[in-house]
Amino acid sequence: MKKNNLLVASLLTASLLWACESKKSESTQGTSDSLKIEQSAFGKVSDSTQATLYTLHNAAGTTVQISDFGGTIVSWTAPDKNGKFDDITLGCDSLAGYQKGVPYFGALIGRYGNRIAKGQFTLDGKSYSLAKNNGPNALHGGLKGFDKVLWKATPIEGEEPSLKLTYTAKDGEEGYPGNLSVEVVYTLQKDNSLKIDYKATTDKATVVNLTNHAYFNLKGGFDSDILDHEVTLNADKFLPVDATLIPTGELKPVAGTPFDFTKSSKIGARINDTKDEQIKFGLGYDHCWVLTDSTKNLKLAASVYEPTSGRVLEVFTTEPAIQFYTGNFLDGTITGKGGKVYKHRFGLCLETQHYPDSPNKPKFPSTVLKPGETYETTTVYKFSVKK
Ligand code: GLA
Repeated sequence: MKKNNLLVASLLTASLLWACESKKSESTQGTSDSLKIEQSAFGKVSDSTQATLYTLHNAAGTTVQISDFGGTIVSWTAPDKNGKFDDITLGCDSLAGYQKGVPYFGALIGRYGNRIAKGQFTLDGKSYSLAKNNGPNALHGGLKGFDKVLWKATPIEGEEPSLKLTYTAKDGEEGYPGNLSVEVVYTLQKDNSLKIDYKATTDKATVVNLTNHAYFNLKGGFDSDILDHEVTLNADKFLPVDATLIPTGELKPVAGTPFDFTKSSKIGARINDTKDEQIKFGLGYDHCWVLTDSTKNLKLAASVYEPTSGRVLEVFTTEPAIQFYTGNFLDGTITGKGGKVYKHRFGLCLETQHYPDSPNKPKFPSTVLKPGETYETTTVYKFSVKK
């Protein structure tokens, strides 16, 4: 009898303790169930590997979905002036769509964002050859860049949930020197901003330029182009390019050109000004703007306002430049999420970065990373509304 009582008492204590433990883990995981990071199958990468989709929520109602395949932002909701949330980023419903080869929708870009002329560069007296995957040039890290690899993901729950992604690119991968260990942390913040922290280290001198390639359409619905979006770029110079979109090396003042976005201007106002050679080369805007504030502080680089929805997107970065691309290569051949067809200029990209082709332009800020150094940059995309 005594023995039985003891057994009951210890079972009771154990279950009480278990209940406390589970309460404790709930409270460290977030303040409510809605803040949990959900995981769902996203598709088969190979016979033995699967991609996962992680869904991050904040208390303000924003949801961001990110896959470990390419570190891709698959969807991202933001409220309009009436509080209605819409997905504002282009993408595909499943992994199969991304595997068909879409133009970097929402993906992490590396090891080198944008173009390297003729797929070649020299570092410490050695020359390196990269795949020419964009006419005569190398683009966005190569044939299998960081947008097409499976990252290791660690979800970190809390009021400001994060997804930590890591990937080690091998020495010689896509032609680049050095084993490069990369860590990217996406954090959905309380104020409806998504912070992206990039870090990398190497065991051999290499070049690094990491960014994210989200395509935004702030109207939501994906039924129209982005020409009515109003853009401000805190940049008084941009980098003119040649016919293959490689910077000429000149830093050209924007004043008096269709590239002047120092004051808010509708994208459509000057995008078809084909008297301008640079507009002709870019088929619209597809250029790198040099930020007026060249410090490594987190500063406002760009803002976008869409008048129908009232949505405002602000981009803050520690980087010195931003590639503003107006979806000029979208041509209606891609059907994205929910069966929506992505037509000409249905999305815009604001890719924070160092300048394209820096490995071949000694006068541009250096993109060289050496052993013992840490590459570290931060970009924040923040949504709000203007009524
Ligand atoms: C970048 C480039 C563009 C284009 C897109 C992807 O933003 O600058 O020219 O290649 O990526 O289509």
